[in-house]
Amino acid sequence: MPADGIELRPKNEILSFEEIVRLSRLFAHEGVTKIRLTGGEPLIRRDIEHLVSALRAIDGIESIAITTNGLLLSQKLAGLKEAGVTLFNISLDTLQSDRFKTITRRPGLAKVVTAIEDTWKSGYDPVKINCVIQKGVNDDELLDFVELTRDRSYEIRFIEFMPFGGNAWNNEQFMSYEDMLSHVRLAHPNLARSTDHPNHTTKMWQVPGYQGRVGFISSMSDNFCSTCNRLRLTADGSLKVCLFGASEVSLRDEMRSGKSDEELLSIISLAVGNKMAAHAGMMKLSEMHNRPMILIGG
Ligand SMILES: C[S@@+](CC[C@H](N)C(=O)[O-])C[C@H]1O[C@@H](n2cnc3c(N)ncnc32)[C@H](O)[C@@H]1O
Repeated sequence: MPADGIELRPKNEILSFEEIVRLSRLFAHEGVTKIRLTGGEPLIRRDIEHLVSALRAIDGIESIAITTNGLLLSQKLAGLKEAGVTLFNISLDTLQSDRFKTITRRPGLAKVVTAIEDTWKSGYDPVKINCVIQKGVNDDELLDFVELTRDRSYEIRFIEFMPFGGNAWNNEQFMSYEDMLSHVRLAHPNLARSTDHPNHTTKMWQVPGYQGRVGFISSMSDNFCSTCNRLRLTADGSLKVCLFGASEVSLRDEMRSGKSDEELLSIISLAVGNKMAAHAGMMKLSEMHNRPMILIGG
């Protein structure tokens, strides 16, 4: 979230549930099996459970994941589980309440920690925790996060800090995967590499004897563009074939102008065909125009 916040869009610019489901059907028809609802904050969308149920009912969709800041999760967990959410990623960058307030610009650490526990107790295994590491901000907490994996099958995903519009990114704050790994290995020399899924973004490791695992998302220092098969649809209906690419096509406008499913599929296919082999690299990205992360969805 940029320091100055963002201007809220009028409701009619945001995709309706019917539009999201229509596009999801098309994607599923072309082979997509997993949908992630992110944001912004997905749990503030009214009746999100209805959307989850509708997406879950689409032929070919096997998994519905949600990435959330966790603040509303405990109260919505049972409904979302019943609706068919298969996986939760909960974002948490610090375990210290003052720091939480500084980073997120609001209180709520206890709520997020409770939400993580509630999710795990309700049977989600693993529960994934997204932790963006910034030098001088929270890099001294790496080992505290690793410790969360001792008795619980949490997957802590340490994410390299990426440049986006309005996030005041600078190279001094950047901590690479290699540096994070070396730091964790000083305390856990036996840290063992574990297997990753071929299209997953995370390099997974485990402290021997611990229940959970720790992973590293090295989007900047060691990108995984060649195996990335993700597509992003923004809340206002733009298709982004790369998180770091500024090019977008408005599927909302195409749908609302009366395009048929076949026509939409050929627009999607053209956009996917134009996907670059790799993103531009960290320093160039820091100078490029892109939406703020909150208007894309990670
Ligand atoms: C943009 S948030 C949206 C979903 C939800 N509101 C949340 O807080 O999880 C999705 C994920 O992107 C991560 N993220 C945001 N800005 C980032 C950045 N500059 N570099 C790396 N990860 C980032 C967040 O920490 C979060 O885990």
